[in-house]
Amino acid sequence: MRNKPEREKSLMADSRVCKILLLCVFVILSSNVSISTASEAEKEYVLTLDHLNFSEIVSKHDFIVVEFYALWCGHCKHLAPEYEKAASVLSSNEPTIVLAKVDADNEQNKELAKKYEVQGFPTIKIFRNGGEKIQEYNGPREADGIVTYLKKQNGPASLEIKTKEDVESVIDDKKIFILGIFPKFSREEYENFMILADKLRSNNDFGHTANAKLISRGDSSITKPTLRLLKPFDELFVDSKNFEVDAMEKFIEEASIPLVTLFDQSETYQPFVNKFFSSPDSKVMLFLNYDHEKQDLFKSTFHEVAGLYKGKGLVFLMGDVKDSENVLEYFGLKKDQTPALVVQDTKGVKYVGQNVQAGHIAPWLKDFTDGKLKPYIKSEPIPETNDEPVKVVVTKSLKDMVLESKKNVLLEIYAPWCGHCKKLAPILDEVAVSLEQDPDVVITKLDGTKNDIVDDTFDVKGYPTLYFRSSSGKIVSYDGDRTKEDLIEFIQKNRDATSESTSDSVKDEL
Ligand SMILES: *[C@@H]1O[C@H](CO)[C@@H](O)[C@H](O)[C@H]1NC(C)=O
Ligand SMILES: *[C@@H]1O[C@H](CO)[C@@H](O)[C@H](O)[C@H]1NC(C)=O
Repeated sequence: MRNKPEREKSLMADSRVCKILLLCVFVILSSNVSISTASEAEKEYVLTLDHLNFSEIVSKHDFIVVEFYALWCGHCKHLAPEYEKAASVLSSNEPTIVLAKVDADNEQNKELAKKYEVQGFPTIKIFRNGGEKIQEYNGPREADGIVTYLKKQNGPASLEIKTKEDVESVIDDKKIFILGIFPKFSREEYENFMILADKLRSNNDFGHTANAKLISRGDSSITKPTLRLLKPFDELFVDSKNFEVDAMEKFIEEASIPLVTLFDQSETYQPFVNKFFSSPDSKVMLFLNYDHEKQDLFKSTFHEVAGLYKGKGLVFLMGDVKDSENVLEYFGLKKDQTPALVVQDTKGVKYVGQNVQAGHIAPWLKDFTDGKLKPYIKSEPIPETNDEPVKVVVTKSLKDMVLESKKNVLLEIYAPWCGHCKKLAPILDEVAVSLEQDPDVVITKLDGTKNDIVDDTFDVKGYPTLYFRSSSGKIVSYDGDRTKEDLIEFIQKNRDATSESTSDSVKDEL
Protein backbone atom coordinates (compact mmCIF):
# COMPACT_ATOMS: atom_id res chain seq x y z
CA MET A 1 0.00 0.00 0.00
CA ARG A 2 1.26 3.42 -0.87
CA ASN A 3 1.11 6.25 1.58
CA LYS A 4 0.20 9.88 0.90
CA PRO A 5 3.55 11.65 0.63
CA GLU A 6 4.73 9.09 -1.84
CA ARG A 7 1.79 9.86 -4.05
CA GLU A 8 2.79 13.50 -4.10
CA LYS A 9 6.27 12.58 -5.09
CA SER A 10 5.25 9.96 -7.57
CA LEU A 11 3.02 12.45 -9.35
CA MET A 12 6.09 14.47 -10.24
CA ALA A 13 7.45 11.78 -12.45
CA ASP A 14 4.34 9.68 -12.96
CA SER A 15 4.34 8.64 -16.54
CA ARG A 16 0.80 7.33 -16.22
CA VAL A 17 -0.62 10.81 -15.98
CA CYS A 18 -1.05 13.35 -18.78
CA LYS A 19 0.25 16.57 -17.31
CA ILE A 20 -1.83 19.69 -17.57
CA LEU A 21 0.57 22.21 -18.94
CA LEU A 22 -1.21 25.40 -19.86
CA LEU A 23 1.59 26.36 -22.16
CA CYS A 24 1.14 23.06 -23.90
CA VAL A 25 -2.48 23.78 -24.56
CA PHE A 26 -1.82 27.32 -25.71
CA VAL A 27 1.41 27.14 -27.54
CA ILE A 28 2.89 23.79 -28.29
CA LEU A 29 -0.24 22.28 -29.77
CA SER A 30 -0.41 25.12 -32.23
CA SER A 31 3.26 25.29 -33.09
CA ASN A 32 4.55 24.03 -36.36
CA VAL A 33 6.50 20.89 -35.56
CA SER A 34 8.45 19.79 -38.57
CA ILE A 35 9.17 16.10 -38.77
CA SER A 36 12.48 15.73 -40.50
CA THR A 37 13.38 12.39 -41.91
CA ALA A 38 16.15 10.96 -39.79
CA SER A 39 19.28 10.44 -41.78
CA GLU A 40 20.49 7.11 -40.51
CA ALA A 41 24.05 7.98 -39.54
CA GLU A 42 26.25 5.06 -38.66
CA LYS A 43 27.66 6.58 -35.53
CA GLU A 44 25.42 7.81 -32.76
CA TYR A 45 26.68 11.14 -31.50
CA VAL A 46 24.21 11.37 -28.63
CA LEU A 47 25.50 9.46 -25.60
CA THR A 48 23.09 7.12 -23.88
CA LEU A 49 23.20 7.33 -20.10
CA ASP A 50 21.51 5.28 -17.42
CA HIS A 51 21.35 5.20 -13.62
CA LEU A 52 24.69 3.38 -13.41
CA ASN A 53 26.89 5.65 -15.50
CA PHE A 54 25.03 8.98 -15.36
CA SER A 55 27.07 10.56 -12.53
CA GLU A 56 30.36 9.26 -13.82
CA ILE A 57 29.86 10.66 -17.31
CA VAL A 58 28.40 13.99 -16.17
CA SER A 59 31.20 14.55 -13.64
CA LYS A 60 33.76 14.23 -16.43
CA HIS A 61 32.37 17.17 -18.40
CA ASP A 62 32.54 20.91 -17.90
CA PHE A 63 29.52 21.23 -20.13
CA ILE A 64 27.14 18.43 -21.07
CA VAL A 65 23.54 18.51 -22.21
CA VAL A 66 21.13 15.77 -21.13
CA GLU A 67 17.72 15.03 -22.58
CA PHE A 68 15.33 13.17 -20.26
CA TYR A 69 12.88 11.37 -22.51
CA ALA A 70 10.23 8.67 -22.51
CA LEU A 71 9.74 6.11 -25.25
CA TRP A 72 6.04 6.90 -25.65
CA CYS A 73 6.46 10.67 -25.83
CA GLY A 74 5.61 12.16 -29.23
CA HIS A 75 7.54 15.41 -28.78
CA CYS A 76 10.61 13.31 -27.88
CA LYS A 77 10.27 11.37 -31.15
CA HIS A 78 10.14 14.62 -33.12
CA LEU A 79 13.18 15.89 -31.28
CA ALA A 80 15.36 12.76 -31.63
CA PRO A 81 16.67 13.23 -35.22
CA GLU A 82 17.22 16.97 -34.65
CA TYR A 83 19.05 16.32 -31.40
CA GLU A 84 21.25 13.71 -33.06
CA LYS A 85 22.02 16.08 -35.94
CA ALA A 86 22.95 18.84 -33.49
CA ALA A 87 25.16 16.41 -31.54
CA SER A 88 26.99 15.51 -34.73
CA VAL A 89 27.60 19.19 -35.61
CA LEU A 90 28.65 20.06 -32.06
CA SER A 91 31.05 17.11 -31.85
CA SER A 92 33.38 19.02 -34.17
CA ASN A 93 32.87 22.35 -32.44
CA GLU A 94 35.86 23.86 -30.64
CA PRO A 95 35.53 23.06 -27.76
CA THR A 96 33.42 19.94 -28.29
CA ILE A 97 29.91 20.04 -26.88
CA VAL A 98 28.49 16.70 -25.79
CA LEU A 99 24.80 15.79 -25.98
CA ALA A 100 23.41 12.88 -24.01
CA LYS A 101 20.04 11.30 -23.29
CA VAL A 102 18.48 9.14 -20.62
CA ASP A 103 15.26 7.13 -20.77
CA ALA A 104 13.83 8.73 -17.65
CA ASP A 105 10.66 6.64 -17.77
CA ASN A 106 12.61 3.42 -17.44
CA GLU A 107 11.95 1.97 -13.98
CA GLN A 108 15.65 1.91 -13.09
CA ASN A 109 16.24 5.51 -14.16
CA LYS A 110 13.24 7.00 -12.38
CA GLU A 111 15.40 8.04 -9.43
CA LEU A 112 17.32 10.28 -11.83
CA ALA A 113 14.11 11.86 -13.07
CA LYS A 114 13.08 12.54 -9.50
CA LYS A 115 16.47 13.91 -8.51
CA TYR A 116 16.56 16.34 -11.41
CA GLU A 117 12.90 17.31 -11.07
CA VAL A 118 11.80 16.14 -14.48
CA GLN A 119 8.12 17.02 -14.76
CA GLY A 120 7.39 16.41 -18.40
CA PHE A 121 8.99 14.93 -21.50
CA PRO A 122 11.25 15.86 -23.06
CA THR A 123 13.13 17.83 -20.42
CA ILE A 124 16.57 19.02 -21.42
CA LYS A 125 19.11 20.26 -18.90
CA ILE A 126 22.58 21.72 -19.14
CA PHE A 127 25.08 20.40 -16.59
CA ARG A 128 28.10 22.62 -15.96
CA ASN A 129 31.26 22.04 -13.94
CA GLY A 130 30.86 18.30 -13.77
CA GLY A 131 27.22 18.61 -12.74
CA GLU A 132 27.69 21.18 -9.98
CA LYS A 133 25.51 23.68 -11.78
CA ILE A 134 22.35 22.72 -13.58
CA GLN A 135 20.26 24.87 -15.89
CA GLU A 136 17.12 24.34 -17.88
CA TYR A 137 17.55 24.19 -21.62
CA ASN A 138 15.08 26.72 -22.99
CA GLY A 139 16.23 26.80 -26.57
CA PRO A 140 14.79 25.69 -29.90
CA ARG A 141 13.99 22.08 -30.78
CA GLU A 142 15.44 21.88 -34.29
CA ALA A 143 19.06 21.09 -35.14
CA ASP A 144 20.30 24.53 -36.27
CA GLY A 145 18.60 26.27 -33.37
CA ILE A 146 19.98 23.76 -30.86
CA VAL A 147 23.51 24.27 -32.21
CA THR A 148 23.34 28.08 -32.08
CA TYR A 149 21.78 28.12 -28.63
CA LEU A 150 24.27 25.67 -27.13
CA LYS A 151 27.31 27.38 -28.64
CA LYS A 152 26.16 30.56 -26.96
CA GLN A 153 25.44 28.78 -23.67
CA ASN A 154 28.93 27.32 -23.72
CA GLY A 155 30.54 30.76 -24.20
CA PRO A 156 30.66 33.69 -21.79
CA ALA A 157 27.37 34.61 -20.09
CA SER A 158 27.71 38.21 -21.23
CA LEU A 159 29.45 39.29 -24.43
CA GLU A 160 31.61 42.38 -24.52
CA ILE A 161 30.58 44.95 -27.11
CA LYS A 162 33.53 46.97 -28.35
CA THR A 163 32.64 47.96 -31.90
CA LYS A 164 29.69 48.75 -34.18
CA GLU A 165 30.17 45.30 -35.70
CA ASP A 166 29.80 43.72 -32.26
CA VAL A 167 26.52 45.59 -31.83
CA GLU A 168 25.22 44.13 -35.07
CA SER A 169 26.35 40.58 -34.44
CA VAL A 170 25.39 40.40 -30.77
CA ILE A 171 22.14 42.37 -30.45
CA ASP A 172 19.06 40.97 -32.17
CA ASP A 173 16.56 43.83 -32.57
CA LYS A 174 13.63 41.41 -32.52
CA LYS A 175 14.50 40.14 -29.06
CA ILE A 176 15.06 41.43 -25.60
CA PHE A 177 18.67 42.21 -24.88
CA ILE A 178 20.11 43.07 -21.49
CA LEU A 179 23.01 45.45 -21.60
CA GLY A 180 25.31 46.57 -18.81
CA ILE A 181 27.03 49.90 -19.41
CA PHE A 182 30.07 50.36 -17.18
CA PRO A 183 32.81 52.98 -17.19
CA LYS A 184 35.10 50.25 -15.85
CA PHE A 185 34.73 46.46 -15.83
CA SER A 186 35.30 46.12 -12.13
CA ARG A 187 33.46 47.13 -8.94
CA GLU A 188 30.39 45.67 -7.42
CA GLU A 189 27.92 46.73 -10.12
CA TYR A 190 29.87 44.91 -12.79
CA GLU A 191 30.35 41.83 -10.65
CA ASN A 192 26.66 41.65 -9.77
CA PHE A 193 25.77 42.03 -13.42
CA MET A 194 27.94 39.02 -14.23
CA ILE A 195 26.36 36.97 -11.44
CA LEU A 196 22.95 37.82 -12.86
CA ALA A 197 23.99 37.04 -16.44
CA ASP A 198 25.25 33.67 -15.33
CA LYS A 199 22.04 32.98 -13.43
CA LEU A 200 19.60 34.00 -16.19
CA ARG A 201 21.62 33.09 -19.27
CA SER A 202 19.43 30.19 -20.35
CA ASN A 203 16.51 32.57 -20.94
CA ASN A 204 18.14 35.89 -21.78
CA ASP A 205 20.86 37.49 -23.88
CA PHE A 206 23.41 39.63 -22.04
CA GLY A 207 26.12 42.00 -23.15
CA HIS A 208 28.28 44.71 -21.59
CA THR A 209 30.10 47.72 -22.93
CA ALA A 210 32.22 50.63 -21.77
CA ASN A 211 31.04 52.74 -24.68
CA ALA A 212 27.38 53.80 -24.48
CA LYS A 213 27.80 55.72 -27.74
CA LEU A 214 27.74 52.44 -29.66
CA ILE A 215 24.14 51.89 -28.64
CA SER A 216 21.54 53.73 -30.69
CA ARG A 217 18.83 53.52 -28.06
CA GLY A 218 18.89 55.58 -24.87
CA ASP A 219 21.16 58.23 -23.43
CA SER A 220 24.70 57.74 -24.76
CA SER A 221 26.34 60.30 -22.49
CA ILE A 222 25.78 58.42 -19.24
CA THR A 223 28.76 58.08 -16.95
CA LYS A 224 27.34 55.94 -14.17
CA PRO A 225 26.89 52.14 -14.37
CA THR A 226 23.54 51.56 -16.09
CA LEU A 227 21.44 48.50 -16.76
CA ARG A 228 19.64 48.99 -20.07
CA LEU A 229 17.01 46.58 -21.32
CA LEU A 230 16.52 46.79 -25.08
CA LYS A 231 13.18 45.47 -26.30
CA PRO A 232 11.31 45.21 -29.58
CA PHE A 233 8.08 46.75 -28.25
CA ASP A 234 6.58 49.71 -26.38
CA GLU A 235 9.27 52.28 -25.42
CA LEU A 236 12.07 50.11 -26.99
CA PHE A 237 14.43 50.47 -24.02
CA VAL A 238 14.32 51.06 -20.29
CA ASP A 239 17.14 51.91 -17.86
CA SER A 240 17.78 51.03 -14.24
CA LYS A 241 20.61 52.01 -11.95
CA ASN A 242 19.90 49.48 -9.22
CA PHE A 243 22.51 46.74 -9.43
CA GLU A 244 21.39 44.52 -6.60
CA VAL A 245 20.95 41.06 -8.10
CA ASP A 246 17.36 40.59 -6.91
CA ALA A 247 16.36 44.07 -8.01
CA MET A 248 17.83 43.50 -11.46
CA GLU A 249 16.00 40.20 -11.77
CA LYS A 250 12.70 41.82 -10.89
CA PHE A 251 13.35 44.73 -13.23
CA ILE A 252 14.02 42.35 -16.13
CA GLU A 253 10.95 40.28 -15.38
CA GLU A 254 8.68 43.33 -15.37
CA ALA A 255 10.26 45.14 -18.30
CA SER A 256 10.16 42.00 -20.48
CA ILE A 257 6.39 41.84 -20.62
CA PRO A 258 4.87 44.16 -23.22
CA LEU A 259 2.10 46.50 -22.16
CA VAL A 260 -0.11 44.38 -24.39
CA THR A 261 1.24 41.00 -25.49
CA LEU A 262 0.04 40.01 -28.94
CA PHE A 263 -1.18 36.46 -29.18
CA ASP A 264 0.26 35.30 -32.41
CA GLN A 265 1.62 32.06 -33.84
CA SER A 266 4.82 33.59 -35.15
CA GLU A 267 8.11 32.56 -33.59
CA THR A 268 9.07 36.14 -32.77
CA TYR A 269 6.10 36.45 -30.44
CA GLN A 270 6.38 33.01 -28.84
CA PRO A 271 8.78 34.03 -26.03
CA PHE A 272 6.49 36.92 -25.08
CA VAL A 273 3.39 34.76 -25.16
CA ASN A 274 5.21 32.21 -22.95
CA LYS A 275 6.20 34.96 -20.52
CA PHE A 276 2.65 36.23 -20.39
CA PHE A 277 1.19 32.85 -19.50
CA SER A 278 3.85 32.14 -16.89
CA SER A 279 3.41 35.53 -15.22
CA PRO A 280 2.22 35.33 -11.60
CA ASP A 281 -0.11 38.32 -12.16
CA SER A 282 -3.79 38.34 -13.08
CA LYS A 283 -4.14 37.95 -16.83
CA VAL A 284 -6.46 40.13 -18.87
CA MET A 285 -7.17 38.90 -22.39
CA LEU A 286 -9.12 40.39 -25.25
CA PHE A 287 -10.10 38.15 -28.15
CA LEU A 288 -11.30 40.07 -31.14
CA ASN A 289 -11.87 39.48 -34.81
CA TYR A 290 -9.18 41.69 -36.38
CA ASP A 291 -11.60 42.31 -39.27
CA HIS A 292 -14.01 43.89 -36.80
CA GLU A 293 -15.11 47.31 -38.08
CA LYS A 294 -14.11 48.96 -34.80
CA GLN A 295 -10.85 47.05 -34.31
CA ASP A 296 -8.73 50.23 -34.15
CA LEU A 297 -10.90 51.63 -31.41
CA PHE A 298 -10.68 48.32 -29.51
CA LYS A 299 -6.91 48.19 -29.81
CA SER A 300 -6.30 51.78 -28.72
CA THR A 301 -8.73 51.47 -25.83
CA PHE A 302 -7.16 48.21 -24.67
CA HIS A 303 -3.66 49.76 -24.76
CA GLU A 304 -4.90 52.81 -22.89
CA VAL A 305 -6.49 50.68 -20.16
CA ALA A 306 -3.37 48.48 -19.96
CA GLY A 307 -1.34 51.67 -19.41
CA LEU A 308 -3.56 52.65 -16.49
CA TYR A 309 -2.93 49.30 -14.78
CA LYS A 310 0.80 49.11 -15.53
CA GLY A 311 2.69 47.76 -12.54
CA LYS A 312 -0.54 47.06 -10.65
CA GLY A 313 -0.61 43.29 -10.85
CA LEU A 314 -2.40 42.88 -14.18
CA VAL A 315 -0.88 41.80 -17.49
CA PHE A 316 -2.63 42.21 -20.85
CA LEU A 317 -2.88 40.13 -23.99
CA MET A 318 -4.80 40.58 -27.20
CA GLY A 319 -5.42 37.98 -29.88
CA ASP A 320 -7.12 37.69 -33.23
CA VAL A 321 -9.96 35.18 -33.06
CA LYS A 322 -8.50 33.21 -35.94
CA ASP A 323 -5.21 32.65 -34.07
CA SER A 324 -6.88 31.95 -30.77
CA GLU A 325 -9.05 28.89 -31.33
CA ASN A 326 -7.23 26.76 -28.74
CA VAL A 327 -7.42 29.45 -26.11
CA LEU A 328 -11.08 30.21 -26.78
CA GLU A 329 -11.84 26.51 -26.51
CA TYR A 330 -9.87 26.33 -23.28
CA PHE A 331 -12.12 29.03 -21.85
CA GLY A 332 -15.22 27.36 -23.31
CA LEU A 333 -15.94 30.30 -25.63
CA LYS A 334 -17.31 30.35 -29.16
CA LYS A 335 -16.42 32.78 -31.94
CA ASP A 336 -19.85 34.38 -31.83
CA GLN A 337 -19.21 35.38 -28.21
CA THR A 338 -16.34 37.65 -29.26
CA PRO A 339 -15.17 40.34 -28.78
CA ALA A 340 -14.60 38.61 -25.46
CA LEU A 341 -12.76 39.80 -22.39
CA VAL A 342 -11.32 37.13 -20.14
CA VAL A 343 -9.58 37.57 -16.81
CA GLN A 344 -7.83 34.76 -15.03
CA ASP A 345 -6.91 35.94 -11.56
CA THR A 346 -3.94 34.86 -9.45
CA LYS A 347 -5.95 31.94 -8.02
CA GLY A 348 -6.97 30.72 -11.47
CA VAL A 349 -10.57 31.92 -11.13
CA LYS A 350 -11.96 33.09 -14.46
CA TYR A 351 -14.18 36.02 -15.39
CA VAL A 352 -15.63 36.46 -18.85
CA GLY A 353 -17.30 39.35 -20.64
CA GLN A 354 -18.97 38.31 -23.90
CA ASN A 355 -19.73 40.48 -26.93
CA VAL A 356 -18.17 43.52 -25.31
CA GLN A 357 -17.89 47.01 -26.80
CA ALA A 358 -14.66 49.02 -26.59
CA GLY A 359 -16.36 51.30 -24.07
CA HIS A 360 -17.02 48.33 -21.76
CA ILE A 361 -13.35 47.46 -21.20
CA ALA A 362 -12.45 50.04 -18.56
CA PRO A 363 -15.62 49.78 -16.42
CA TRP A 364 -15.56 45.97 -16.64
CA LEU A 365 -11.99 45.86 -15.33
CA LYS A 366 -12.88 48.28 -12.58
CA ASP A 367 -15.65 45.90 -11.56
CA PHE A 368 -13.11 43.09 -11.57
CA THR A 369 -10.61 44.94 -9.36
CA ASP A 370 -13.48 46.00 -7.08
CA GLY A 371 -14.45 42.32 -6.71
CA LYS A 372 -17.88 42.87 -8.26
CA LEU A 373 -17.68 40.34 -11.10
CA LYS A 374 -19.14 36.86 -10.85
CA PRO A 375 -16.67 34.05 -11.62
CA TYR A 376 -17.20 32.25 -14.88
CA ILE A 377 -17.59 28.52 -14.59
CA LYS A 378 -17.28 26.46 -17.71
CA SER A 379 -19.66 23.52 -18.08
CA GLU A 380 -21.00 21.36 -20.84
CA PRO A 381 -24.78 21.10 -20.92
CA ILE A 382 -26.25 18.21 -18.92
CA PRO A 383 -26.65 15.42 -21.51
CA GLU A 384 -30.22 14.53 -22.45
CA THR A 385 -29.54 10.82 -22.55
CA ASN A 386 -27.01 9.23 -20.25
CA ASP A 387 -27.53 5.50 -20.66
CA GLU A 388 -24.03 4.20 -21.38
CA PRO A 389 -22.50 2.04 -18.62
CA VAL A 390 -20.17 4.91 -17.61
CA LYS A 391 -22.33 7.93 -16.82
CA VAL A 392 -21.39 11.40 -18.03
CA VAL A 393 -20.98 14.10 -15.38
CA VAL A 394 -20.60 17.81 -16.22
CA THR A 395 -19.93 20.73 -13.89
CA LYS A 396 -23.65 21.48 -13.72
CA SER A 397 -24.46 17.94 -12.57
CA LEU A 398 -21.40 17.32 -10.37
CA LYS A 399 -23.29 18.17 -7.20
CA ASP A 400 -26.29 15.94 -7.90
CA MET A 401 -24.44 13.02 -9.43
CA VAL A 402 -21.33 12.95 -7.24
CA LEU A 403 -20.97 15.38 -4.34
CA GLU A 404 -24.46 14.89 -2.93
CA SER A 405 -25.22 11.53 -4.43
CA LYS A 406 -26.67 8.81 -2.18
CA LYS A 407 -24.63 6.24 -4.07
CA ASN A 408 -21.04 5.08 -4.15
CA VAL A 409 -19.52 6.96 -7.07
CA LEU A 410 -16.27 6.47 -8.94
CA LEU A 411 -15.38 9.65 -10.87
CA GLU A 412 -12.83 9.78 -13.65
CA ILE A 413 -11.68 13.26 -14.71
CA TYR A 414 -10.19 12.93 -18.18
CA ALA A 415 -9.10 14.81 -21.27
CA PRO A 416 -10.08 13.68 -24.76
CA TRP A 417 -6.50 14.14 -26.03
CA CYS A 418 -4.88 12.15 -23.22
CA GLY A 419 -3.50 8.76 -24.26
CA HIS A 420 -3.61 7.28 -20.75
CA CYS A 421 -7.30 8.19 -20.58
CA LYS A 422 -8.01 6.47 -23.89
CA LYS A 423 -6.36 3.35 -22.55
CA LEU A 424 -8.42 3.49 -19.39
CA ALA A 425 -11.77 4.07 -21.13
CA PRO A 426 -12.54 0.43 -22.14
CA ILE A 427 -11.40 -0.80 -18.71
CA LEU A 428 -13.73 1.63 -17.00
CA ASP A 429 -16.50 0.42 -19.29
CA GLU A 430 -15.88 -3.15 -18.17
CA VAL A 431 -15.90 -2.11 -14.52
CA ALA A 432 -19.21 -0.34 -15.05
CA VAL A 433 -20.73 -3.33 -16.84
CA SER A 434 -19.58 -5.70 -14.09
CA LEU A 435 -21.18 -3.53 -11.43
CA GLU A 436 -24.30 -2.68 -13.41
CA GLN A 437 -26.44 -5.01 -11.31
CA ASP A 438 -25.46 -3.12 -8.17
CA PRO A 439 -27.82 -0.14 -7.81
CA ASP A 440 -25.61 1.48 -5.15
CA VAL A 441 -22.55 1.92 -7.33
CA VAL A 442 -22.15 4.36 -10.22
CA ILE A 443 -19.13 4.77 -12.49
CA THR A 444 -18.84 8.28 -13.93
CA LYS A 445 -16.57 10.41 -16.06
CA LEU A 446 -16.11 14.15 -16.53
CA ASP A 447 -14.28 15.86 -19.39
CA GLY A 448 -11.90 18.13 -17.47
CA THR A 449 -11.16 20.22 -20.55
CA LYS A 450 -14.78 21.30 -20.95
CA ASN A 451 -15.83 21.47 -17.31
CA ASP A 452 -14.33 23.57 -14.54
CA ILE A 453 -13.98 21.96 -11.15
CA VAL A 454 -14.40 24.74 -8.64
CA ASP A 455 -14.82 22.47 -5.65
CA ASP A 456 -11.68 21.92 -3.51
CA THR A 457 -12.69 18.29 -3.01
CA PHE A 458 -10.88 17.19 -6.14
CA ASP A 459 -7.28 18.08 -6.80
CA VAL A 460 -6.72 17.69 -10.52
CA LYS A 461 -3.07 17.94 -11.49
CA GLY A 462 -3.17 15.63 -14.47
CA TYR A 463 -5.38 13.30 -16.48
CA PRO A 464 -6.80 10.85 -15.72
CA THR A 465 -7.56 11.69 -12.09
CA LEU A 466 -9.73 9.15 -10.28
CA TYR A 467 -11.74 9.77 -7.14
CA PHE A 468 -14.22 7.69 -5.23
CA ARG A 469 -16.98 9.09 -3.07
CA SER A 470 -18.79 6.66 -0.83
CA SER A 471 -22.53 7.09 -0.27
CA SER A 472 -21.83 8.56 3.17
CA GLY A 473 -19.44 11.12 1.74
CA LYS A 474 -16.00 9.60 2.31
CA ILE A 475 -13.62 10.73 -0.46
CA VAL A 476 -10.62 8.68 -1.54
CA SER A 477 -8.36 9.23 -4.53
CA TYR A 478 -7.45 6.19 -6.60
CA ASP A 479 -3.79 5.64 -7.15
CA GLY A 480 -3.59 1.92 -7.88
CA ASP A 481 -3.08 0.01 -11.09
CA ARG A 482 -5.58 0.79 -13.78
CA THR A 483 -6.93 -2.73 -14.19
CA LYS A 484 -10.50 -3.92 -13.96
CA GLU A 485 -9.70 -6.20 -11.01
CA ASP A 486 -7.90 -3.56 -8.97
CA LEU A 487 -10.55 -0.94 -9.61
CA ILE A 488 -13.38 -3.27 -8.57
CA GLU A 489 -11.50 -4.37 -5.47
CA PHE A 490 -10.93 -0.71 -4.55
CA ILE A 491 -14.60 0.15 -5.02
CA GLN A 492 -15.75 -2.83 -2.94
CA LYS A 493 -13.30 -1.98 -0.19
CA ASN A 494 -14.26 1.70 0.06
CA ARG A 495 -17.98 1.59 -0.57
CA ASP A 496 -20.36 1.90 2.33
CA ALA A 497 -22.11 -1.20 3.61
CA THR A 498 -25.12 -1.94 1.47
CA SER A 499 -28.52 -1.33 2.97
CA GLU A 500 -30.76 -4.33 3.80
CA SER A 501 -33.08 -3.99 0.86
CA THR A 502 -30.28 -3.69 -1.62
CA SER A 503 -28.45 -6.77 -0.45
CA ASP A 504 -31.75 -8.64 -0.73
CA SER A 505 -32.19 -7.55 -4.28
CA VAL A 506 -28.64 -8.51 -5.12
CA LYS A 507 -29.26 -11.91 -3.55
CA ASP A 508 -32.41 -12.26 -5.61
CA GLU A 509 -30.49 -11.66 -8.77
CA LEU A 510 -27.90 -14.23 -7.76
C1 LIG B 1 5.19 24.80 -41.25
O1 LIG B 1 6.54 24.82 -41.63
C2 LIG B 1 6.73 24.52 -43.00
C3 LIG B 1 8.23 24.38 -43.27
O2 LIG B 1 8.98 25.27 -42.48
C4 LIG B 1 6.06 25.61 -43.85
O3 LIG B 1 6.22 25.32 -45.23
C5 LIG B 1 4.59 25.63 -43.51
O4 LIG B 1 3.95 26.68 -44.21
C6 LIG B 1 4.39 25.83 -42.02
N1 LIG B 1 2.98 25.70 -41.68
C7 LIG B 1 2.34 26.55 -40.89
C8 LIG B 1 0.91 26.24 -40.61
O5 LIG B 1 2.90 27.52 -40.38
C1 LIG C 1 25.83 3.69 -19.96
O1 LIG C 1 25.33 2.40 -19.72
C2 LIG C 1 24.42 1.93 -20.70
C3 LIG C 1 23.88 0.57 -20.24
O2 LIG C 1 24.91 -0.31 -19.95
C4 LIG C 1 25.11 1.83 -22.06
O3 LIG C 1 24.21 1.41 -23.04
C5 LIG C 1 25.70 3.18 -22.41
O4 LIG C 1 26.42 3.11 -23.61
C6 LIG C 1 26.56 3.73 -21.29
N1 LIG C 1 26.94 5.07 -21.65
C7 LIG C 1 28.19 5.48 -21.74
C8 LIG C 1 28.39 6.88 -22.20
O5 LIG C 1 29.14 4.78 -21.50
